[in-house]
Amino acid sequence: MNILVTGGAGFIGSNFCFYENEKHKDNRIICIDKLTYAGNLSTLKPLMDEPGFKFIKADICDRDTINEIFEKERPDIVVNFAAESHVDRSIEDPSVFLSTNITGTSVLMDASCKYGVKRFHQISTDEVYGDLPPDRPDLFFTEETPLHTSSPYSSSKAGADLLVMAYARTYDLPVSISRCSNNYGPYHFPEKLIPLMIINAMNDKPLPVYGKGENIRDWLYVEDHCKAVDMIIHSNIYGEVYNVGGHNEMKNIDIVKLICKELDKPESLITFVKDRKGHDLRYAIDPSKIQKDLGWKPETRFEEGIKKTIKWYKENKSWWEPIISGEYMDYYEKMYGNRR
Ligand code: NAD
Ligand code: DAU
Repeated sequence: MNILVTGGAGFIGSNFCFYENEKHKDNRIICIDKLTYAGNLSTLKPLMDEPGFKFIKADICDRDTINEIFEKERPDIVVNFAAESHVDRSIEDPSVFLSTNITGTSVLMDASCKYGVKRFHQISTDEVYGDLPPDRPDLFFTEETPLHTSSPYSSSKAGADLLVMAYARTYDLPVSISRCSNNYGPYHFPEKLIPLMIINAMNDKPLPVYGKGENIRDWLYVEDHCKAVDMIIHSNIYGEVYNVGGHNEMKNIDIVKLICKELDKPESLITFVKDRKGHDLRYAIDPSKIQKDLGWKPETRFEEGIKKTIKWYKENKSWWEPIISGEYMDYYEKMYGNRR
């Protein structure tokens, strides 16, 4: 079977390529990625010499190139991880979020229809549901929760989800969608909360917590997300949405304090900075549908996953040190310089 993975040089896409390559040795993975600031080819180095793995640098918005790739590689399954993924960047400039996340998804689906792809799986996010009140711990996002987005990022992801369901109904494209909560683990780009705090703490730099740090996220170890996607794409269920999450809600401030503790750094590094515009208060997934239909359940407890993640960042400075120079420093200055 030929599996085309888009965005495979990013955080979750690369972890998925590793997972899939290990689990299904007979399958071929064709990984395409534009290699934006968030894509890192060095991440995929361990796979480059694998006979069942091929990397192609390509933009999912480039229709001619995408059609050529489909014509040549004939994918059976397409898994679309490629996206602009950072909420703060979407608040600064929404435009590229609309082209990659919406137009790019439609270009891939047009090619999937043309070349008779057997499944198009869209990697979506719990952010499409908006947020939940922090004082209602009884409420969770289910697959029936209405889409109600807050940021240009989440709106672009919701737009893509609507298109996916429209292609299923209008063109009979066999589709599935997964909406996962916040992932953490190896190869996470250090603009996101957990890797940013680990790296800043390791370097004795301020830890910029937005607002009061009271916002709640529902964290899942990246391998558990990969396992969920693997189970969905190899099932015989089509046209369904699956929420993916491990009931692991935590306040941002508690995560940052935990990172300080694990790294033996003082909490005095924590700096409260100006809040994110439109900041979602709480995410919390009800994963009962994927548990019931596919038997998925998370395997890595947060206490274990965060230790593994911190260890990984300590042992893989050669991965992140080149990232946090040059362009990244310009970004950091722009986003955090006047946030105090
Ligand atoms: P990421 O930013 O680390 O990686 C995105 C990858 O997509 C990068 O390698 C980038 O080069 C590539 N890309 C961007 N634009 C492209 C284009 N036009 N053509 C081809 N490739 C392009 O993101 P991530 O955190 O790995 O997220 C992957 C997917 O999972 C996204 O769709 C995101 O919305 C979704 N998601 C992420 C999380 C999370 O916690 N990180 C949770 C739920 C869902
Ligand atoms: O829920 C799934 C989503 O999780 C994915 O769809 C997104 O692609 C992914 O980036 C992530 O979005 P968040 O906005 O939740 O993640 P982020 O790591 O940017 O922020 C997590 C929380 O930490 C959020 O409440 C904002 C806060 N934060 C973030 C940064 C970068 C800080 O307090 N300080 C920071 O410097």
